[in-house]
Amino acid sequence: MLEGLKRLEYRGYDSAGLAVLQDGGVTNVKSVGRVANLAKLASGKNLTGTTGISHTRWATHGGVTDANAHPHVSSDGQVVLVHNGVIENYVAIKKFLLTKGYTFASETDTEVLANLIAYHLAKEPAAPAPAPGASAPMADASSRFLTAVRKTLLHVEGTYGIAVLSPAHPGELVAARKGSPLILGVGENEHLIASDVSALVSRTQNVVYLKDGELVHVTGSGFTLSTLDLADVSPVIDQVTWSVEDAELGEHPHYMLKEIFEQPQALENAMRGRFSADGSTANFGGLNLTPADFRIIDRFVFTSCGTGWHACLVAEHLIERYARIPVEVDYASEFRYRNAPLDRDALFFVISQSGETIDTLAALREAKRKGYKCMAICNVVGSTIARESDGGIYQHAGPEIGVASTKAFTSQLLIAAMFALYVARMRDMSFSEGVEFVKGLKQVPDLAARTLKLAPQIEDIAKRYSKFNDFLFLGRLDLFPIALEGALKLKEISYIHAEGYPAAEMKHGPIALISEECPSVFLVPKGELFNKVVSSMQEIKARKGLIIAIAPESVELPEGLADETLRIPDCHDAVLPILATIPVQLLSYHIALARGCDVDKPRNLAKSVTVE
Ligand code: F6R
Repeated sequence: MLEGLKRLEYRGYDSAGLAVLQDGGVTNVKSVGRVANLAKLASGKNLTGTTGISHTRWATHGGVTDANAHPHVSSDGQVVLVHNGVIENYVAIKKFLLTKGYTFASETDTEVLANLIAYHLAKEPAAPAPAPGASAPMADASSRFLTAVRKTLLHVEGTYGIAVLSPAHPGELVAARKGSPLILGVGENEHLIASDVSALVSRTQNVVYLKDGELVHVTGSGFTLSTLDLADVSPVIDQVTWSVEDAELGEHPHYMLKEIFEQPQALENAMRGRFSADGSTANFGGLNLTPADFRIIDRFVFTSCGTGWHACLVAEHLIERYARIPVEVDYASEFRYRNAPLDRDALFFVISQSGETIDTLAALREAKRKGYKCMAICNVVGSTIARESDGGIYQHAGPEIGVASTKAFTSQLLIAAMFALYVARMRDMSFSEGVEFVKGLKQVPDLAARTLKLAPQIEDIAKRYSKFNDFLFLGRLDLFPIALEGALKLKEISYIHAEGYPAAEMKHGPIALISEECPSVFLVPKGELFNKVVSSMQEIKARKGLIIAIAPESVELPEGLADETLRIPDCHDAVLPILATIPVQLLSYHIALARGCDVDKPRNLAKSVTVE
């Protein structure tokens, strides 16, 4: 369990705990801080049981304290439980339980679950003994414990991924999900349950992805799946396609740097097998849509969160420019409540690296509820969003462990460019333009590898600029989302205030920030807007602002205008956002290092946000 928790550390947490059934009772150990603290505490406890549950907590209800850490034990000591998610009606449940004599030791919403299961367990009649000569009933049919969990969940509003034990039922473990991911690993002589494949992939590659509303009941002789309304479910055992080494740090000092340098490979993987034989367009087998379906689409709606939302903005530019179909982009967290009127023939897309972000999942469900076909661009195979969408495109970028998304983002941009090409070729793009486009895309892995050679120059710049506390990132059209992404990366891992703006908007307000203390990072385009961006740079220079320019090799910047210039390779227009991203990733990484920040465990952040 400790190994599993260590492998989940990257997701962000503030406390950790574990409970083991042994000697007829529960040994529960928990502590604020790192898993290493927990390991130290646990080593003094002589843990000998073979059934246990463990958890890392990212605080929602109640501060970061030992008492609020999971596992939580019911006040009668009969139930112990770990929980991801949020129980929305916990106040009403708590009031009810207080009248029944249950007490509470924490400020969490989770503790009500432990007590409510204990309440139902106490009420559940013992199974009648089998008649003489009759075989014993199926464990499930007679499991008071499973029934108590099921009855509890019928009263719960909110989201959960739970694993539950009872010292009175030592041979059983019950887990269930609604809105929070849960995966069963089927190992050799063991079963493992986790919220993320990376926690169990060192023990088994065979996994069952639970669906919302499903419970798994694990006993010494195997497992069964069922739904909350008592239907049996036949398990589908999937194979995880990556190995434990893919998720390990290797020679690299940080996951973030490892993943930045994995980008050429991730980009290659996103394209593999996805170009037509005539080399003029892309193919996507997983969309489950015919060219005729595409002909009637009059709008795409893209939603996502955070970095994925920036990828949506790039998709908007590329699809509108090349395929000439309107695209609307919305934050998933806003879309789900906005009740937006949608065109009749809109096609809905969500982008999610993890495939588990609850806001994005909710947006997908809302669009499906309204009857729209929904596609997903996801990295994690088998994730909830991937499974609930009507079709989609897997990124194949490999596991992304760094909290700050890097290789998943550039792979989303490449898929967006390929998708724009795919739709454009069904509309007005000619064969020869298509061939040029494909050639441009195929060069991306090599050009990304060349761009990575900027790392030493960026490290040097970062050391000199790490003293500043404000940054602006400026770009236009499809480089504006890269400005947003650069600012987000810097904020996330170095805690420096940074803002991304369309370069020309800067003079309508943010220019007031410009001084010798607030550098601007410019993403310089080629073509018709080059001169306009140079004018914006002049406006900054005139106000003594420092400028870091990220510009294609072939553009000529006025002498002395930029204080630092990072040259990226010339490329097809559709892939410039990808190459322009790499320097901003490296810049934030090295600035964070220079400021002594913990790059892989940025404060307050979680890798995949499965609460609203
Ligand atoms: C930023 C970052 C987050 C995620 C966002 C969505 O570096 O990683 O902003 O992009 O939480 O996550 P996914 O893509 O997993 O849905």
